[in-house]
Amino acid sequence: MEEPRLHCIGILHGDITRLADAPKNFSESNRTGILEIYPKYRDGLDGITKGQTIVVLFWLHKADRSILKVHPRGDSSRELRGVFATRSPARPNPIALSELLVQAIDENTIAVSGVDVLDNTPIIDIKKKI
Ligand SMILES: C[S@@+](CC[C@H](N)C(=O)[O-])C[C@H]1O[C@@H](n2cnc3c(N)ncnc32)[C@H](O)[C@@H]1O
Repeated sequence: MEEPRLHCIGILHGDITRLADAPKNFSESNRTGILEIYPKYRDGLDGITKGQTIVVLFWLHKADRSILKVHPRGDSSRELRGVFATRSPARPNPIALSELLVQAIDENTIAVSGVDVLDNTPIIDIKKKI
């Protein structure tokens, strides 16, 4: 079977530069950032409006892709669990899903809040929240 091929559509600019400083999830984050979408994908943003929550899929470029069991939330007092039963960034395909609130949109940039990923994390998709 042919392996899937991804095209990164943009990059997240934020102020989180160390993994230790990143919130564990978007639901626990008040951090803000800018989604810079590459110009060739700009038309795909039509319909996104301020105040909307969007689902953003990121490629966690610094994640460990070899791990299949983790202590949930990095808490070593908790029993090891399979990564597919967690939201751990460590997984064979390190895709993160974050629900972000649109604060402003201008051309190919979207200001968002709820950021839980590092500065410079690649963006692979954006979807409407249902
Ligand atoms: C558990 S993930 C949650 C991501 C997403 N909300 C989800 O549920 O799929 C958030 C954690 O991923 C880690 N992380 C953030 N950006 C990363 C990156 N670019 N590469 C690797 N790990 C990252 C940080 O430790 C952060 O606390």
